Amino acid sequence: MQLVFATNNANKLREAQQILPNYKIISLEDAGIHEELPETHETILENSKEKAEYLYNKYHINCFSDDTGLEVEALGGAPGVYSARFAGPQKNNDDNIALILQKLQGVENRKARFVTYITLIINGEQHIFEGEMRGSILPCRSGNGGFGYDPVFLPEGYDKSVAELSPEEKNKISHRGRSLQKMAEYLSSK
Ligand code: IMP
Repeated sequence: MQLVFATNNANKLREAQQILPNYKIISLEDAGIHEELPETHETILENSKEKAEYLYNKYHINCFSDDTGLEVEALGGAPGVYSARFAGPQKNNDDNIALILQKLQGVENRKARFVTYITLIINGEQHIFEGEMRGSILPCRSGNGGFGYDPVFLPEGYDKSVAELSPEEKNKISHRGRSLQKMAEYLSSK
């Protein structure tokens, strides 16, 4: 069965394809959808639902969307829903990382977590899957893998950043990996 993943991020697409080998997971571009999906809400759960609902209502396709936020304890849960645009509307990963490091300079409590909500809409039925990864923000960047905040995120119980893990290792413990695994379990139980 084919499922459209509401993304054009090649990293995310690969992650999903690894976890759901029995499904044909395609990107928005692969599906011929070239518009930016709306994300107008103040919570990542609502933004996740909005993207999948928009796709389903407009294109009538089986699909799923994800929305992720990085929550830093010492910053009161920021950047949260603003994680992509933390340092400005240009949505630049390097700028976002620089701002996190600057805000946490000299701060002892560096605890943080990633949380992802996946919204699956299949044959008109909606299901939500949540995943989280706990850890802390490193004092400087480390590693070249992954994307986003990966070079400064140290998962709990690890001695390397997410950007230093293999894609398989990341998928086992990451927020999106865990929510995708829950979705895979649901799909295989149907
Ligand atoms: P989005 O919901 O996927 O757009 O993610 C929001 C923000 O979190 C963006 O700045 C992403 O780069 C970042 N982000 C999402 N997933 C990950 C991840 O797996 N690792 C690091 N950063 C991520």
